[in-house]
This record gives sequence, C-alpha cells and structure tokens, in this order.
Amino acid sequence: KTGYFTYDSGFLSTASCQSKVTYIDGDKGELLYRGYPIEQLADNCNFLEVTYLLKNGELPNAAQKSDFENTIKKHTMVHEQLSKFYSGFRRDAHPMAVMTGVVGALSAFYHDAMDFSDVEHRNVSFNRLVAKLPTIVAMAYKYNTGMPFMYPDNELDYTANFMRMMFGNPCEKYVPNPVLVRALDVIFTLHADHEQNASTSTVRLAGSSGANPFACIAAGIACLWGPAHGGANEACLNMLEEIGDVSRVGEYIARAKDKNDSFKLMGFGHRVYKNFDPRAKLMRKVCHDVLGELGLENDRLFKLAMELEKIALEDQYFVEKKLYPNVDFYSGIVQKALGIPTDMFTCIFALARTVGWMTQWEEMITDPEYKIGRPRQLYIGAARRDVVPLAQRG
Ligand code: SDX
Repeated sequence: KTGYFTYDSGFLSTASCQSKVTYIDGDKGELLYRGYPIEQLADNCNFLEVTYLLKNGELPNAAQKSDFENTIKKHTMVHEQLSKFYSGFRRDAHPMAVMTGVVGALSAFYHDAMDFSDVEHRNVSFNRLVAKLPTIVAMAYKYNTGMPFMYPDNELDYTANFMRMMFGNPCEKYVPNPVLVRALDVIFTLHADHEQNASTSTVRLAGSSGANPFACIAAGIACLWGPAHGGANEACLNMLEEIGDVSRVGEYIARAKDKNDSFKLMGFGHRVYKNFDPRAKLMRKVCHDVLGELGLENDRLFKLAMELEKIALEDQYFVEKKLYPNVDFYSGIVQKALGIPTDMFTCIFALARTVGWMTQWEEMITDPEYKIGRPRQLYIGAARRDVVPLAQRG
C-alpha cells in the first residue's frame, strides 16, 4: 500500500501509495496541498503557514502560527561541531554534495529523539530539519565563497533570516528587501511538496526500513540532485545561457524533437502534468515581480525563456506530447536575479521540499499498515545454468 513499486516502461514508478497530503490533477494542471489550491496558498500564506498546513493538515490560526514560528526559531542554530564538517570539503565542492553529507550527519547529533513511535520525537525532528535547513544551505554557500558563516538572527522571519545568512556579513547590518523576501518565500511554498515524485519516493522507501529522518532526508537530497528532477532548474539556466539568443531557439527545439539527440528542453515536460504545471505560471509571475523590483524588466534570459515557451507551445511536437513548462523553467532565472548562484538552485529546492519529505515520511511511519518498501522486478536475465569449473572455461 505504501511505497509499492512496479516496473513500468523502463521506470520504477510508484504503483500505489495512499496519501492525504498533496493532490495533483495532471490533465487539469491542478495542485492542492491538503485540499487548498497552490495559487491561493501562494497569494495568502507564508511558507511557515504552508509548512504548518502540510504537517498538521489544517492552516494555523494566528496564535498557532505565532507559536509555530517561535518554535522554529528555537532550532535555527546548528551544533558547533556540525560546522566542522564543511572544512572537510573542497571549497569548490558542489553545494548539493555538501548538503547530502551535512544533513546526513545530523543523525549523529540527535540521539535524544530517535524513538519515532513517540509523536514528540517526530515533531522535534520535523522542527529541527525545517529550522536548520536554511542555516545549513547558507553555510554551504558561505563555505563555497570563503565568507564567514552567519548565525541566524531570530528577530527576522524565516525567509528574511535565510537571506541574511546567505547575503549578509558580520561587518554590516543586513536590511532585507520585503519584495525579494516575499518572492523567495513564495518560491519555497511552490517547492514544498509534490506527492510521490522521485525524491519523495526515495525518502519513503528509506524511511520504510526504520532509518532515521535525517538519513532519509539526505537520501532525498541525493535523488533530487539529478538533472531530470530537482537539478533541472540549474540545467535550465545553463541551457538558456547556451542558447544565448532568440535566433537560436529553433535549433534547440529541433534538437529536443530529434530522437537521435539525447537533448531535452530543460524545464519542460513532466511525469504527471500533461497541461501547464500551475507552479510554472506562479513562478513566471514571481520572476516578473522580482525583475521589476530590481529594474531588470528587460532581463535577457527572461525574455529568451518567454520566447522559448511561446515557440515550444506552438510546436506540433510539444502539443502532441503535451509538454509544458514545469516548476523549473522560470525558477532559475528568478533565483539568479535574487543573487543565488546557479549551483545553489537545487539546494533551495531541497530546503523547501524537506517540509514535504518530512510530512510524507511521518504519514508513512504512522500508517499502521506500512511495511518496508520492497520493489519487485521483472527478471529478464539468464535462465538457470550450472557453473563450469575454471579449468574448463573457454
Ligand atoms: C521536477 O515528479 C515530480 O513531481 C517532479 C517535480 C517535483 O516537484 O518533485 O515536479 C520536479 O522534477 C520537474 C521535472 C524537471 N525536469 C526537467 O525539466 C528535465 C526535462 N524534462 C524531461 O527530462 C522529462 O520531461 C521528464 C523526465 C520530466 C519526464 O519525462 P517523461 O516521463 O519521458 O515524460 P513523458 O512521458 O511525458 O514524455 C513524453 C514524450 C517522450 O517522448 P516519446 O518517448 O513519447 O517519443 O516527450 C518526450 C519524451 O522523450 N519529452 C521531451 C521532454 N520531456 C519529455 N522531449 C523534449 N524535451 C523535454 N523536456
């Protein structure tokens, strides 16, 4: 029932998994978190409200929202020993490699709350991960740049705190731009959960063995890194830079259609959406707002992306294959405009998706019927045969 896999056209796909968390209608291009349309959540809530909703199943009232925000603030710092893990990496290590290692290492710090039959242990693990991921991601960026780590400033809200840890420095007061903070907060919401995608299925499968959630989230981060999944936003921006000019869009559309060419249009297509990914439309609006705030309305890559989208959506191949922009198509452009380096885009995705991963992990381990995930296979190898002694082998 939970995490069962079957062999399906070359992919190991989740054949059946019951969940109350997120609903996607791929044909309609609809995405609901606990029944609420993503469009309404993006417009009316902040990321921690959405986090509370995903975990608890209901939106918080004002008191619950304030309590939850204060609880998260209590966990934003990491153990001083954890910061020593960074110095083991090369300065130019990919931040996703750093995150996979550091988040997995969290398992070694919390022996005090590893009985996950205890709801309090589950809650404190959830709060620790939600609170510490921004600190861990920002530290990966600071380590990469040779800048000093920034401690959280809990006078700031969740996303402003993250932006200060990323872009602030100990010598100057960091004054967050509310428009940019709101934009990144919406980006977190858009990435928070997405039912049984590859990385969530990874977290569920790892958790089904009883592995602790820190190790499971590290497994999810590793899976998300792939360019066909969460790494697509980094790959999409690199693709737009390579295309360079609208005049070359036709060449790349032709490549995407050529069966003999492995090139795929990054940020296009989806395993489930056969209509517009609703997050792509919201991401395009966030992109427009951020570029407007920064006076970058004529951003070259944004204009190129919109032209590419227009041409692709009019092309017979894309229409027939029902290929539309997905969440990754515009997210790289807006993150670049926010000052986030390309190799950090998937770290931002992982920061936000940790909420969905932890929610789905808890849904699985509290399901009385859950069993360890054990994907079956379609054996297509050699039939039974006897070993020939070495001396007689040709
Ligand atoms: C994410 O699962 C999730 O929910 C993931 C995610 C989440 O929030 O967790 O939404 C996040 O991972 C979004 C996807 C990001 N990846 C990319 O943008 C990479 C580029 N996209 C492709 O790699 C592809 O679209 C996939 C992997 C996303 C889906 O591939 P599928 O399952 O092959 O898609 P499909 O079955 O709908 O494809 C139909 C056809 C196929 O050709 P035929 O075999 O029918 O000849 O369209 C082709 C595909 O080869 N195709 C593309 C294409 N995507 C699919 N052709 C060109 N360019 C593309 N981008």
